[in-house]
Amino acid sequence: MSSGHNNRIYVMHGVNLDQLGRRDPAHYGGMSFLQLEQAIDAFAVELDLNARFFQTNHEGEFVEELHRLVDLADAAIVNAGAWSHYSRAIGDALQFAGVPVIEVHLSDVMAREEWRRVSVLGDACVATISGQGVDGYREALVVLKQELGL
Ligand code: DQA
Repeated sequence: MSSGHNNRIYVMHGVNLDQLGRRDPAHYGGMSFLQLEQAIDAFAVELDLNARFFQTNHEGEFVEELHRLVDLADAAIVNAGAWSHYSRAIGDALQFAGVPVIEVHLSDVMAREEWRRVSVLGDACVATISGQGVDGYREALVVLKQELGL
């Protein structure tokens, strides 16, 4: 879609998500990171949304990309990995991101270790979806489409 549309969704993955195929399949499923991004892109196409992707293992880079988010996209999906549980810097950056953001986790963080039950990002997000694997991203896209009035 052209930039004249307001259907640009930025899908942002943080620390260790690029290693998906090597992580515990009991929590994260068997998909590689590339397969995850391809599945999300297919959901976006089906919903007539224009998805773009970003991943970094560097917190400062993630924060700087959030600073640019308002120029890059109309809404975002963020899976910040372990940063979700303690990075006040990312939480602060999300507060003034200027576009609606949904927090997604592949695994059911509420049913895992105590430290994963806390999100320091959730307050800045329109919704948090966890424990639904790749389908959680589809749900996030559906919610963002509504949020954008599309
Ligand atoms: C995760 C959950 C986090 O607790 C963990 O640190 C991750 C992935 C998820 O998608 O389930 O790296 O965000």
